[in-house]
Amino acid sequence: MIKILSVVGARPNFMKIAPFIEQINKNTDIRHILVHTGQHYDARMSRNFFNTLGIPIPDVNLSIGSGTHSRQIGDTMIAFEKILIKEKPDWVVVVGDVNATLACSITAKKMNLKVCHIEAGLRSGDITMPEEINRLVTDRISDLLLTPDLISSQNLLNEGISNSKIKFVGNIMIDTLDKNIKKAKSLSVLDIINSNVINKKNKFNHKNFKKFGLVTMHRPSNVDSLSILKSIIQMFINDISKKMHLLWPIHPRTQKKLKEFDLYIDLLNCDRITMLHPIDYIEMIKLNSSSKIVFTDSGGLQEECTILSTPCLTMRWNTERPITLLENGGVSLLVGNDVQKIKHAFNQIRINEEIKRPKYWDGKTAFRCLSEILSYKYE
Ligand code: UD1
Repeated sequence: MIKILSVVGARPNFMKIAPFIEQINKNTDIRHILVHTGQHYDARMSRNFFNTLGIPIPDVNLSIGSGTHSRQIGDTMIAFEKILIKEKPDWVVVVGDVNATLACSITAKKMNLKVCHIEAGLRSGDITMPEEINRLVTDRISDLLLTPDLISSQNLLNEGISNSKIKFVGNIMIDTLDKNIKKAKSLSVLDIINSNVINKKNKFNHKNFKKFGLVTMHRPSNVDSLSILKSIIQMFINDISKKMHLLWPIHPRTQKKLKEFDLYIDLLNCDRITMLHPIDYIEMIKLNSSSKIVFTDSGGLQEECTILSTPCLTMRWNTERPITLLENGGVSLLVGNDVQKIKHAFNQIRINEEIKRPKYWDGKTAFRCLSEILSYKYE
């Protein structure tokens, strides 16, 4: 019997691990252990996703919590090493690019265990982005690199990684999207607002939400600087929201920064912007598929917009997911955090009717991931 230990840590990991565990559970010859590092811990950032996506309760929760990157990564490594000593898995499977991905892949390789990275090979080329460091290091040391697209496979080859370690399997997040889309479409936008709204005194009526834009933002490059964050908030309040009502599920990091910079009250008082708590996965899919446009700096949303055909203004200067860009057949346009550029792009939005699903974004990626692990040729 093969023993696989998989790791999750933060919100974007949950939709990637769910279909993988579902595949494992179809196979009685595998003993599976799920470790949650606890980087994200609020119910709305973590537990709710387990319930919605049917992920089993983790066998272990390391309860690492918030902190500086070195603190989070160091504490995770120390705690995770103890689990590996006890469990001695045949494979450690990490997903995505969060601090848990990096910390757990290093710990496992230090103990000479096999590591598989799902969603390998993404590169933004921007080393100031914490996730880029996580991607580079994890891919350099992993034994099996499962890529979401051929651009990512090529990135790995360009870095001199042996072709035999790289397997193109497709985008595992799309397995989760496909599985949940029908249920998401049956939800009501108004119900989602009513159960998650923060600025309750704003009056909602159905007319407001016939047409709306969806905002999500949490990257340090957008929210950690007062001048950048202030210019973005002013743009949403004084310009964009006057043309289209906005719904904004707020990330805890962003909420904290807005309060620190004294910008939060202005947002709460703007009756054209509805602030929401972080929402559930299925609710997000509903809002995304019903919105006219998405403003985001999230990686996963760029991909979900591509499948849902929602025009996406990506508030970054680069992306590790170029396959989602308009020029490559997707829906997303890089607009950075230059408000003039964002406003211009907003006025020019067009729907790409020609969207073709990228190869292997077909709902069967988890099956291919597990097959690659089970057929791995040990030297
Ligand atoms: C992390 C990931 C990022 C991912 C994002 C999605 C890294 C380096 N970054 O960034 O790739 O896109 O998650 O959400 O791993 N907080 C809470 N409750 C929580 C979690 C966080 O209040 O459940 C607050 C904490 O105050 C913390 C801040 O949010 O200081 C940032 O959290 P952190 O886990 O450090 O990184 P994210 O910015 O969420």
